[in-house]
Amino acid sequence: MSEHLYKIAVLAGDGIGPEVMGEAVKVLRAAEARHGFTLELNESPVGWAGIDADGKALPDATLELCRGSDAILFGSVGLPDRDPTIPKEERPERAALLALRKIFGLFANLRPVRLPTELAHACPLKAERQGEGIDLLVVRELTGGMYFGQPKTTETLDDGQQRAIDSMVYTTSEIERIAHVGFKSAQLRRKKLMSIDKANVLENGVLWREVVTRVAADYPEVELDHMFVDNASMQLLLNPAQFDVMLCENTFGDILSDEAAALAGSLGMLPSASLGETEGDKTFGFYEPAGGSAPDIAGQNLANPIAQILSAALMLRHSLGENDAAAAIESAVGKAVTDGLRTGDIFNADDPNARQVGTTEMGDAIAAAV
Ligand code: IPM
Ligand code: MG
Repeated sequence: MSEHLYKIAVLAGDGIGPEVMGEAVKVLRAAEARHGFTLELNESPVGWAGIDADGKALPDATLELCRGSDAILFGSVGLPDRDPTIPKEERPERAALLALRKIFGLFANLRPVRLPTELAHACPLKAERQGEGIDLLVVRELTGGMYFGQPKTTETLDDGQQRAIDSMVYTTSEIERIAHVGFKSAQLRRKKLMSIDKANVLENGVLWREVVTRVAADYPEVELDHMFVDNASMQLLLNPAQFDVMLCENTFGDILSDEAAALAGSLGMLPSASLGETEGDKTFGFYEPAGGSAPDIAGQNLANPIAQILSAALMLRHSLGENDAAAAIESAVGKAVTDGLRTGDIFNADDPNARQVGTTEMGDAIAAAV
């Protein structure tokens, strides 16, 4: 295999997944031509598309494809109205998404949230609360905590009641490795890390704070602060500009990243990366838009492809080391926004510079700029 040939598992999934993935592929092909590398893009079904094709949300062939790839570019899975009777273990959210996170040890989830000044209208906060601008990164631990901790069960008690148990479990090493990701991310940004916990109540919170504080000694140039999660959820609304990197355990990061995403006006703009351990110079990763499958707008050329396109840029940077191509895609997205191109989710009729476009037109413009 040549240095510059990369194998990518392309799992578009359900709802708007295939449409926005089509645009990301278009943009990747443009980057490939311009930046001198070759992508072998192999598509395979996942989610309801996997159930339809092969009886399960993560077909064996899809998993095998992922195992043989340098990275996974993922669309979205889940169609809430499809079949409410399917057992919970077989639902795409658990059987595909959580399964892939666990199988590939994708413990570090990066969710950058940025509100471009041109889209300040889309932010639900008043202008004065937006402060100097919203530009933060949620670093979420993704394979521990209540999502996977044991015991995890629902049992029937002697008196006939049911009791559900989810266990919040973290070991020192799990906290350490995500803390390193948090500090390293902060080093590349504004050098401020806010560690989020609930150390006033939870054993997990006490350990989290101790370990993060210890890891901080390796990063003297990064300013570390701690905040309780309830206060953090409030501070995001009162003064989001205070945050640079927010370091969270799994459940807190799930909740705070949705809250932070709302500040950027549209989920359709936000990419994410889920990374495993770095081995040698390789980091296997899974790249997906922050928004869901949005079945209500699927198939109508309405979806915003930017989150999927920026996820592809994160893939180029974190798993393939193609930093120039990643930056080129990011600036092409910036250009499309500055030029006034707007899918419906970010359109503002009062902005004389704004022009409403469909999914494909947005993708074409970004690919052309790359
Ligand atoms: C996310 C999603 C998932 C999660 C769901 C779909 C299982 O909300 O990626 O944030 O809770 O992690
Ligand atoms: Mg979530």
